[in-house]
Amino acid sequence: MWTVLCVMTVAALVGPSCQRAPVLITVNHSSDDGKPGDLSQSAFADYVNWWQNIIGIINHQEEPAVEAPITPVDQSTCPPCTCGALGKKNRIVGGTPTYVHQYPWMAMLTYKGKFYCGASVINHKYVMTAAHCVHGFEAKNIGVRLLEHDRSDTEEAKHIDFKVLRVIKHKGYSPTSYNNDIALLRMDTDGVEFGPNTGINPVCLPVEGKSFAGYEGVITGWGAKKQGGSSSQVLHEVYVPIMSNDDCRKTEYDEKRITANMMCAGYAEGKKDSCQGDSGGPMHIANNTAYHIVGVVSWGEGCAQANRPGVYSRVNRYLNWVANHTLDACPCSNIYTPSE
Ligand SMILES: *[C@@H]1O[C@H](CO)[C@@H](O)[C@H](O)[C@H]1NC(C)=O
Ligand SMILES: *[C@@H]1O[C@H](CO)[C@@H](O)[C@H](O)[C@H]1NC(C)=O
Ligand SMILES: *[C@@H]1O[C@H](CO)[C@@H](O)[C@H](O)[C@H]1NC(C)=O
Repeated sequence: MWTVLCVMTVAALVGPSCQRAPVLITVNHSSDDGKPGDLSQSAFADYVNWWQNIIGIINHQEEPAVEAPITPVDQSTCPPCTCGALGKKNRIVGGTPTYVHQYPWMAMLTYKGKFYCGASVINHKYVMTAAHCVHGFEAKNIGVRLLEHDRSDTEEAKHIDFKVLRVIKHKGYSPTSYNNDIALLRMDTDGVEFGPNTGINPVCLPVEGKSFAGYEGVITGWGAKKQGGSSSQVLHEVYVPIMSNDDCRKTEYDEKRITANMMCAGYAEGKKDSCQGDSGGPMHIANNTAYHIVGVVSWGEGCAQANRPGVYSRVNRYLNWVANHTLDACPCSNIYTPSE
């Protein structure tokens, strides 16, 4: 019933990387969707950009301020906002390894009411996701659902739905190479309440400069549990080792495809991975007890294939970009420690 939607006309050019594309049902393939060899003008420009980027003519440029007016908050009046604290709730029996609301920043994106991607709450007003989850999608039809756990159970978790006020897709995003595959969604709210009253908490942004190679990445999502499988009803988590970009360039992927804005995670033999439907969701590391979003699920060939690790947008390349595009929100920079 679920179909893989290759979000871009020329997804066929990079072939199987659309395996991790968002899942959607009841969306018609447009006439130019997925036709191999049909290289439209804009797709061609993207392709050229990709190559120029790879050979170093164009460096990734951060986009200027958004066009839509935003009213910056006076940051000196911001109350403290703590990030990274896991939720502690009852374990679900007989199913899955995540607890209800264990990852209290985990958001589900819907399009015309249907699940298609993941996202993460980073402050009171914004969620972070992948650019390929918004590229070609109409903002008015995108929904952000917080506090979801079991998609098939409408009672069990009282989720909250938000419309999207503004979509901020990275200007350097390329739908052919998946470079700069990152976006922010401004939820239509004056500010989501965090803490024990709601059970919602934001995830921490990562520290700058670190590669996170050798760390254990934790991916959460409602995506398929295996290649070609249907998406999961219940939020699940997967643990995978994060690789260095040098090691990732020695895998089956053409080394030029792995840009500095990406990071890879997975076992050499495959085994565990993110998969279709996990797109846009977080890859975290746990730094002591605080969870930091180091990656955004972006692409991969197949799922859990040997020597074809999952590829993630490298969030700590975008810390300035995030700060400059969320000026109307208070940042959450107080890192959770258990003593609080
Ligand atoms: C999808 O295609 C069918 C048949 O062509 C059409 O009836 C339907 O309105 C289309 N749906 C959308 C959402 O475009
Ligand atoms: C963990 O957090 C500390 C304190 O914020 C920071 O100095 C350190 O670099 C972090 N380590 C990683 C791997 O993020
Ligand atoms: C963000 O703002 C800082 C400080 O004003 C500036 O140095 C930086 O160039 C800006 N970056 C982007 C991506 O706009």
